[in-house]
Parts: sequence; C-alpha cells; structure tokens
Amino acid sequence: MTHLKFDYKNALSFVSEASINAYQPQINKHFESLFNKTGKGNDFLGWIDLPDNASEEMLQKLEKLAVALRQKSEIFVVIGIGGSYLGARAIVDALNHHFSQLKQNGDSPVVIYAGQNISEDYLHDLLEILDQKDYSMSVISKSGTTTEPAVAFRILKNHIEQKYGVAEARKRIVAITDKEKGALKQLADEEGYETFIVPDDVGGRYSVLTPVGLLPIAVAGYNIRTLLKGAKQIKSQIESDYSISKNPVSAYAAVRNELYKSGKTTEIMVNYEPRLYYFTEWWKQLYGESEGKENKGVFPAGVGFTTDLHSMGQYIQDGLRNIFETVISVEKPDHQVKVPSEAKNLDKLNYIAGMPIHEVNRQAELGTTLAHIDGGVPNLRITIPKVNEEVLGEMVYFFEMACALSGYILDVNPFDQPGVEAYKKNMFALLGKPGFEKETEEIRKRIK
Ligand code: PA5
Repeated sequence: MTHLKFDYKNALSFVSEASINAYQPQINKHFESLFNKTGKGNDFLGWIDLPDNASEEMLQKLEKLAVALRQKSEIFVVIGIGGSYLGARAIVDALNHHFSQLKQNGDSPVVIYAGQNISEDYLHDLLEILDQKDYSMSVISKSGTTTEPAVAFRILKNHIEQKYGVAEARKRIVAITDKEKGALKQLADEEGYETFIVPDDVGGRYSVLTPVGLLPIAVAGYNIRTLLKGAKQIKSQIESDYSISKNPVSAYAAVRNELYKSGKTTEIMVNYEPRLYYFTEWWKQLYGESEGKENKGVFPAGVGFTTDLHSMGQYIQDGLRNIFETVISVEKPDHQVKVPSEAKNLDKLNYIAGMPIHEVNRQAELGTTLAHIDGGVPNLRITIPKVNEEVLGEMVYFFEMACALSGYILDVNPFDQPGVEAYKKNMFALLGKPGFEKETEEIRKRIK
C-alpha cells in the first residue's frame, strides 16, 4: 500500500480532462521505453531498479559503518554538490529535529555540508567548528573531479589528518565515487578509505537511493531500509497500471506538461513544513537539470508557506500569469501544540484558542489554494500522511519517475546536463587550468 496521493482537480478550470487524458498513449510508450531501457539516455536508467536491487551486503556495510561513525563523531561532514549532496540533505533535514544543531547531547551526529559552494568564509567557519568537535566525513563525487567538492576535500583532508594523525584520519573518511574512473577513486584506494560505488548507470540527481544518499541518512540515524521499502512500494504501483486515472506519476507528468503547453511555464513547489525546504531544493535540481534544455522545460521554483506568503505571495497572487503550483500537503504533524487561551485576548486570537497549530496551518493552506486558483494559478496537490522514511522513499521515487516521464514527453534527454559545462569551461579558463590555454587567452580578451 502506498501513501502518496496526487490530486489535480484544481487545475481543471485551466486545462481540460480530455486534454490530459490525450497523453495516455505517449505515456504508455514512454513507460515501456523506460522499463525496457530503450529511450533517450538509456545508459543512465539504473536508478529505476535501485529499490529492488539494493544488496543485503551493501546495506549491512552501510549500517555497520554508520554505527561506527556515529560513535566517534559529533559532526558528520558530507562533501558534495548537486546530486551528490541534495538528496541526502533533503531526507536528513526532513527527518531531523528542526533545531538539531542546537540540541544538547543529541544522540546523533549533526550532519553538515561542504563542497556545495566555493565560499572562503564558509570554509573558514567550518574549520573553526571542526577544531572543537570530533568529526568524520564522506566525500561524494561520481566523477571525482568536480571543483567545489575537490577544493573542500583538500582542505578538510589536511585538517582531519592534522587533528587525528593520518592513520585515524583514514578511518574517518569515506569516499563515494565511480567504480573505476577518477581521481577520487585512485586516492581512496591509495589511502585505504572505506569506499562505496555510485553505479555507472545512475546519474547524480537520481542517486539518493545509492550510498550517495544512504550513507549520510544512516549516519544521521535514519532507517535506510524503510526508505527503500517506500520506494519499492510505489515502484510496484507504478508498474502495475500506467493509466492516468490510477497512476499518480502518469497523472502528474501529463498535467504538468499540458499546463506547460498552455503557457504555464513555471512550476512552484509549495510546502507548509519548513523541514521540507531541502526536499524542494532536491526537486528543483532534479527537474531543472533534467528538463531545462534545448530551449525547453518548465522552470522549477520553490516557496515555503506561510513564510513566503509574506514575500512571494504577492507575485503568485497577482504577478505574471505563467505559473502553476504543486503543493506538498502533510496530513499529520508528529507533535501537538495548541493555541493557548488568554484572559485579556488583546491579540484577538481567542477564537482559535485550543486549536492545534497544524489545523491553523491547514486552513491557511486551503485559503491560499482557493485564493491562488481565483488569481489564475492552477493548483496540483500531493498529499502525504506524515513525514517519515517510508513516505519520503515514495516521494523520491515518485518524483524521479515523473521527471523521467515528463522529460520524454518534452522530447529531451532527462539524464544528461550538457548546459552545466559552460560555466566550468569559463571558470577553468579564468583560473588558468592546464589544457585550457586557448580558452584562457580568449576569455581574457573578452573581459578586458
Ligand atoms: O545530477 C548531476 O549529475 C549533477 O548535479 C552532479 O551530481 C553534480 O554536478 C556533482 O557531480 P559529481 O558527483 O561528479 O561531483
């Protein structure tokens, strides 16, 4: 049984049911090419089978290592960028206490991140904290050559070796990288780090259910088997029936493509739970890198309500009418806090005294949805009962599959990212990287 529900009734005053159902033949065809691995980018479809294929040996190795690292670490640093970072952060943040970094004597290491930017001050401040705390780290890079994590790892490798000595440092570093290629694999072999492999046929942004996501999630104290179980459950639902009326992936892919065709070119993911902030960031990367190419693609944006109703809410209600919303609606909170009653009632809140805060949030959600529909913003809704490992596993697989399907409907390869190279080429030329001499000369002339 799966938990996630998809509802698009609040888009039907913008696009017709008939136009959505017209996607069924191509959806059937695209599912076949995904499952038979015959479509565009078919050498990067390994993620489809991850929920079924996770080996007992790998899971046990991950769990054992996670226990060992948890015992000796107050902090666990995850070094990586893009798909080698956002999946882990999305899940860990969704499951964590909101103030985990401030919790005294928490029984799990605080997971923090590096290599996702090139800020000198960020790294300085990180080193200052790591001077005072026991820590270990994973360095995650499929290619092993990405500049941001490579710079961060060089700095943290020096730090950890100085802090603990080389032999102990080696026991505190885990490398997650490609099977054969790449500098990181060579370094890990030479230094004898514990290593996990990113399968060749799984691209970064589809890698959260590999050790890329699973190790940090396990070190943070969460159940990776339950996460995989959620993904497996929704996988079998997806495989059993492709029809738009029964399959939430088919429905989501069809509706968002039809909205896009009707001029709604920006999709805003909306959540009402701050713990889902990085889930939205993960989704933005997944959809942005997968669909945004060949001058096409829905622009993925994100907001957190009700916070952003006091900023972006104005634009969404009244600005350019090229947007639609996809709301992640959580039915039940983990805890209950009620609005207290006040004798003086100066703030005039006694009309909701005794009401659970989540109920206030739900009414805010309903009121906002209606206001935005009235303002010309179609509303898609994904409902989940709770935020836990199983449901997050479902959500991950749901969005991955819908992204692949949507990309095929759009007729792009959802598994490459050629556009990411342009900034790298310029940066290497500006930094004077060997091999980029011609580009260096050209770019220096251009910026004179
Ligand atoms: O989704 C992707 O493929 C990218 O976002 C990569 O994950 C990102 O560029 C990091 O690459 P790598 O893991 O090779 O360091």
